Amino acid sequence: MIKDLNRIAKDTNKFLNSYIKRQSKTELIKSMKYGLLPGGKKIRSKILIDVGKIFNLNYKSLIKLGAAVECIHAYSLIHDDLPCMDNDSIRRGKLSTHKKFGESTAVLAGNSLLTLAFEILSDKNLILNANTKIKLINLISECSGHTGIAGGQYLDLNYEKKKIKKKKIIDMQIKKTGKLFAFCCIAPVLISNKNNHVLKVFEKIGYEIGLLFQITDDLIDYKGITKKAGKKTKKDQKKRKSYFNQFTRL
Ligand code: IPE
Ligand code: IPE
Ligand code: MG
Ligand code: MG
Repeated sequence: MIKDLNRIAKDTNKFLNSYIKRQSKTELIKSMKYGLLPGGKKIRSKILIDVGKIFNLNYKSLIKLGAAVECIHAYSLIHDDLPCMDNDSIRRGKLSTHKKFGESTAVLAGNSLLTLAFEILSDKNLILNANTKIKLINLISECSGHTGIAGGQYLDLNYEKKKIKKKKIIDMQIKKTGKLFAFCCIAPVLISNKNNHVLKVFEKIGYEIGLLFQITDDLIDYKGITKKAGKKTKKDQKKRKSYFNQFTRL
């Protein structure tokens, strides 16, 4: 499992590196690569590839799809660490992007990674039919914007210092984290032209993986140590995150 994960992380980074290399050089590339490439587990890519295997899809195309997902994920982390959000100075065992390059550069690097995902998905070198590409772009947009990551992040911040019902917390975690995992589980189903029922089954699996993943991450914050986690731990309680209460009886 870990060996597989490392290989997928390496292949995803290799693709992303060469994709960016082919583009015009800009001053933002350094900060984009800093937030995108080193240290991330690339677990979303791994899930996409594992589900893709069930449907016998081509590994190279799946790596490209995974790379697009990782761009969106990296953008969300760069913005999540900003002072106006979680105000974190360490990510993936190094300075967070705004600490290294400054806030405005981090905002713009994040924006550029978000749009890079759409460039990758609409690229002529991604060999999928145009209709499928439109469906994938439509779905990943829905998973990233106000009905997905951005909406979940809004709720996460808005719920700080408030007592929030479990149902609402679950809705927030699904938007914040579950939606992108759901994309990874649904994308191979969409590409294989399976029916709506299969699609719904894989969407549900994605949400469940996302919820499990997020609660594990929250537990790492509660019990873990910074050195191992690669990011500051024990912060959720200080910030009075809405989901912290679930751990107080542990
Ligand atoms: C961290 O995600 C943020 C959450 C959604 C919990 P990861 O744990 O996948 O972060 P990296 O990419 O490996 O740093
Ligand atoms: C990370 O969420 C960002 C997204 C899920 C979009 P958290 O704030 O809960 O995760 P860490 O602990 O900073 O990685
Ligand atoms: Mg956060
Ligand atoms: Mg955070």
